[in-house]
Amino acid sequence: MVAIDTTVVEERERNVAAHYTRGDLLTQLLEALRRAGADIEALRPEDLEAVEEFHVGGRPATERIAGLLGLSGDGGERVLDVGSGIGGAARYLARRFGCRVDGVDLTEEYCHTARELSRLAGAAESTHFHHGSVLDLPFGPRSFDAAIQLHVGMNIEDKARLASEVARVLRPGGRYVIYDLFARQPGSSDRITFPVPWAASRATSFLVTAEAQSEVLEQAGFTVSHREDLGEWGTERLRAALQAPPGQAPKVGLPALIGAAARERLGNVLQALEQGLVAPWAIAGRISA
Ligand SMILES: C[S@@+](CC[C@H](N)C(=O)[O-])C[C@H]1O[C@@H](n2cnc3c(N)ncnc32)[C@H](O)[C@@H]1O
Repeated sequence: MVAIDTTVVEERERNVAAHYTRGDLLTQLLEALRRAGADIEALRPEDLEAVEEFHVGGRPATERIAGLLGLSGDGGERVLDVGSGIGGAARYLARRFGCRVDGVDLTEEYCHTARELSRLAGAAESTHFHHGSVLDLPFGPRSFDAAIQLHVGMNIEDKARLASEVARVLRPGGRYVIYDLFARQPGSSDRITFPVPWAASRATSFLVTAEAQSEVLEQAGFTVSHREDLGEWGTERLRAALQAPPGQAPKVGLPALIGAAARERLGNVLQALEQGLVAPWAIAGRISA
């Protein structure tokens, strides 16, 4: 295994955070929600659903992946959201399973926005957002019952370190479910047209195959129990979202989160999916008891 220079990682992380930072995200989001008729002081799950999930397939994808976490829903569980964005999955999990969710994200503006949205949606007690890198998780060993990661690994080259960090903070038997975009064949993601939603160029884009990711998990001590190609399903959903006639599109959608370049970036992902260069996969591993 080749160690990756710390200063290189730090500079890359600054570039990743800069890529996602808008500067006025919360103001823009609240304005869009207000225009769509939402009561900002009492946000409902349905107000936020179309804007708070930053991955192919949106909320239905989160529901699908959440089902692989093996949560009992007994109310006392703790879940880690690896790269939590503006907190959509965290709020969904807390609501659905009665668990406490801790999200970690590199983009400070996303953490701030996630906290504010949770406060306005009445989820401030059950969801907590920490600004930092998932390569250096701010938690002690065996802190969590499960971990979820939605479309984050594409920004991270050192997948071995990420897997070992998640393994460290999970309790024995805890599940780690990844839903990322993966290269269909080794090197096929080199042919993606940039910009895409996660990166302006290949300098911060690190896709591997689902097989390679599974090997990394096994080496970190996970037993991979589930690996599912969601390419066709995800392509269909993204195509439908991009082609929805104005009357059927949600009033507040991903463009409110991504900004002006949303259509170009999402269009480039759709193209990469349709060309068979990349695909979303669900990969679930369980850390040894
Ligand atoms: C495409 S967004 C997905 C956000 C969220 N998981 C979701 O699905 O809505 C990718 C997220 O990963 C975060 N990220 C990328 N590299 C990271 C790292 N090393 N540590 C923490 N967060 C990271 C970004 O800041 C961004 O919020």
